[in-house]
Amino acid sequence: MKKDLNEILSAYNGEKSNLIPILQEIQSNQGYLSDGTMKEVSIFTGVPESEIYGVATFYTQFRFTPKGKKHIMVCKGTTCHVKGAPQIVEGMERHLGIKEGETTPDLEYSLESVGCVGNCARAPCALVNEEVESKITLRGVKRIFRKYKKSQTTNINKR
Ligand code: FES
Repeated sequence: MKKDLNEILSAYNGEKSNLIPILQEIQSNQGYLSDGTMKEVSIFTGVPESEIYGVATFYTQFRFTPKGKKHIMVCKGTTCHVKGAPQIVEGMERHLGIKEGETTPDLEYSLESVGCVGNCARAPCALVNEEVESKITLRGVKRIFRKYKKSQTTNINKR
């Protein structure tokens, strides 16, 4: 069950040394670190917001935008990179109108890259939520978006 911010903070004593565990727990509960959250953490710990951002941006585990309903992680491991992952990311960015690390304004899609997902024989790959997409081509990018748009419609119809 998800906890709200006050519930999370109440488990800590507000010491600066708890900053990373606090941020980790917030992200695990809320999915990302919002501006409002950072402000609250700053008040709670007495650490200036700019310093908290400095710490959080140092670690790639933290995100500052919510994940989309369809969270795409394009593999940028060596094999996928050689087989065109950077072009796949560019194609997805163009299609979605966002950059890597961002989420569409309607919160439908978020786009990130990730290290090897263990499917090198079928590179280049991406994960859409938990599902693996393999041997992606630039043309295949549109097919992927059609597939997930369709699956969304199918899911809505099942309700
Ligand atoms: S490098 Fe992409 S699956 Fe291994």
